[in-house]
Amino acid sequence: MLQNTTTLADLSEGVLDAPQDSEINAISAVDLSLWYGDFQALFDVNLNIKKGLITSLIGPSGCGKTTFLRSVNRINERLGYVRIDGSISVLGHDIYGEGVELIQVRKQIGMVFQRPNPLPISIRDNVLFGFNLHGENRKGMSKQDKDDIAEMALRKVLLWDEVKDRLDQKATELSLEEQQKLCIARLIPVKPVVMLMDEPCSALDPKGTEAVEELIWELAGDYTIVIVTHNMAQARRASHECIFMLMGKVIEHEATARLFVTPDKRETADYIEGRYG
Ligand SMILES: Nc1ncnc2c1ncn2[C@@H]1O[C@H](COP(=O)(O)OP(=O)(O)O)[C@@H](O)[C@H]1O
Ligand SMILES: [Mg+2]
Repeated sequence: MLQNTTTLADLSEGVLDAPQDSEINAISAVDLSLWYGDFQALFDVNLNIKKGLITSLIGPSGCGKTTFLRSVNRINERLGYVRIDGSISVLGHDIYGEGVELIQVRKQIGMVFQRPNPLPISIRDNVLFGFNLHGENRKGMSKQDKDDIAEMALRKVLLWDEVKDRLDQKATELSLEEQQKLCIARLIPVKPVVMLMDEPCSALDPKGTEAVEELIWELAGDYTIVIVTHNMAQARRASHECIFMLMGKVIEHEATARLFVTPDKRETADYIEGRYG
């Protein structure tokens, strides 16, 4: 498929137009509006987020970035006063449709939060936690098979060499950078289609930020990643496409290189030049 062989250079030259084919849209939001009580936080959001790419989501504080991500894995609805209109599909399936099981949605859509949130159990048990709940073929699997899965996931996030001799240590004793990598690792055995990351580097120092960004690049192609960031440099370095939001609306969605160099909208230009917070 085209999008898997597209390089950043192709995107920056504008070779790739937004595909209409829903098969290569990992996430499609159609006329999505969301209210917290009387307060409207999202207004008619229409987005097609392409499979296998890293898409960054930027915009000033309070513009609805977290609200959008939380709508994609249906966390918002835990709040009784949230109302949603419109629809979201993941790989063409309406996740708000009748008969859709929340557990299936959560399996397909992994989420990483601002502060790493490992469970206060061992590194090994953290990596296998989601898998033990709803991984494929987990029943009757030997300890060795599960160890292999844990190793594969930890290798994938470039953490194996650092932790292989202390898999029984509590995950909460790891550094923040290691904890965040672990929180990404524990999604992998569940085989999600999409990984949503809400400012995953905001609690990390510059070295940790760089390490986690590198990891996110490694995962591109295998996963569709949507990453919220306040860090313009990170959005520029670490994404293929970029969405700019303002006051609950999508203002612009473009190849990252194009959005930062020749934005179509005045508001986007103002934001990337630092004219609002
Ligand atoms: N649980 C909530 N209850 C009421 N209002 C909320 C809630 N969460 C967010 N909001 C409001 O919705 C708007 C969008 O918030 P949010 O999605 O967190 O923005 P961002 O992640 O872009 O900073 C803000 O005005 C915020 O105050
Ligand atoms: Mg937020």
